[in-house]
Parts: sequence; structure tokens; C-alpha cells
Amino acid sequence: MLTTPKGIIVGRDTHFVIDTPGNIAAVYKRQMLDLVDLGGQVKRERAEPGIENAQLIGLTVYQARVIATCCLKNPLYDYKQQVFKKAQATRSPDLYNVELGYITTHPDFEGGKHCQQLLKEFFLKISHLNMFATTRKPAMKHILEKYGFYQLGARYGDQFDLELMLYEGAFG
Ligand SMILES: CC(C)(COP(=O)(O)OP(=O)(O)OC[C@H]1O[C@@H](n2cnc3c(N)ncnc32)[C@H](O)[C@@H]1OP(=O)(O)O)[C@@H](O)C(=O)NCCC(=O)NCCS
Repeated sequence: MLTTPKGIIVGRDTHFVIDTPGNIAAVYKRQMLDLVDLGGQVKRERAEPGIENAQLIGLTVYQARVIATCCLKNPLYDYKQQVFKKAQATRSPDLYNVELGYITTHPDFEGGKHCQQLLKEFFLKISHLNMFATTRKPAMKHILEKYGFYQLGARYGDQFDLELMLYEGAFG
């Protein structure tokens, strides 16, 4: 259980882990899964294989605890087609082979810029790629836009609260 006050900016006890799933310690991947589950945006049973099949994982680790996560996912073909179709996207899904997702910050650390700090490091490795992301969270949309994503198409999903965000690294 983390007892650090909400919003604290952690310093020298923090480090980033950015690597492929096979190179990341099982204990960190378990903590990542727990955090993604806690974030409530993805079902645990879908996140588990998604993490293992990812291209790249990004973690912020504070005192041996994962406090923020992000992931470059290899989306299933059918899922990607469905997302673009439901969002009525006017760009082809074939241009976007990877998805930025599983972005979470531990509730005790939310608002401390951990998501943005982790994405800054992560983007050093992925900024050349075309990517998509989906979100229903205004804070997430705000952060993605800071990194050059833009929203395309219509809101979709059961509650019409999901948005498709695109990033064109290869064309930039
Ligand atoms: C969304 C989430 C990842 C953000 O993580 P975080 O570490 O708290 O984010 P940061 O502190 O780096 O940045 C938050 C930014 O959002 C902004 N923000 C907060 N609430 C906002 C809102 N309602 N609308 C728009 N922007 C908002 C903040 O002002 C800040 O931006 P700024 O630095 O330009 O001022 C985190 O809240 C989370 O894990 N949520 C649950 C899981 C989730 O929904 N993940 C997204 C899946 S798509």
C-alpha cells in the first residue's frame, strides 16, 4: 500500500523502465496489470495478454513500486478495424499499426505529472511511428494532444463517450 501523498513529485527514488515485455521483470508486469485493472478502463483478462504481446512497455518505478504505466500495443486486426469504423474515421486503419494504451497512474500519484513524464521518455523511442489511441477521459485527451495526437471522427461506444486519437509520426 502506497502512503505517499497525492500529487507528490518524486525525485531520486524514481526511475523509468522502458523495454519489451520479455525483458521486464515479472513482478513489474504484475504490478502493471494491477494498476491497469485499477484504472478501470480495460478488462483485466484483456490487459493480461495485451501486455505480454506489446511492442514496448513504459513504467515509472518509485521505491520498487510501479506508479505509472504506458504501453505500445499490437492491436488485434479486427479490433482496430472496428474502432476506426465505429468512430467513422476518414483515415485508413492500415496506416496505424500500433496503439498507445494501458496508460495509468496510481491514484496516490495522480496529478503529479507522472503520466506526462513517462510519456516524454517513452516518446523518445516511439515518436517516429504512426499510432492511434482511444480514450473517454478528458485528462487523457488533454495529455495526448500535448504529444501531438488529434481526435478524428465521431464519439462512439455504448455511452458515446469514446474518442479515437491519431498521431502521425511517420508523416511529421
Ligand atoms: C489519466 C491519467 C493517466 C493521468 O495521469 P496523471 O499522472 O495524473 O497525469 P499528469 O499529472 O501527467 O497530467 C494531468 C493533466 O491533465 C489535466 N487535466 C486534469 N483533469 C482534466 C480534465 N478534466 N480535463 C482536461 N484536462 C485535465 C491536468 O491539468 C494536467 O495537464 P497540465 O499538466 O497541462 O496542466 C490518470 O488520471 C489515470 O490513471 N486515470 C485512470 C486510468 C485512465 O483513465 N487511463 C486513461 C486510459 S485511456
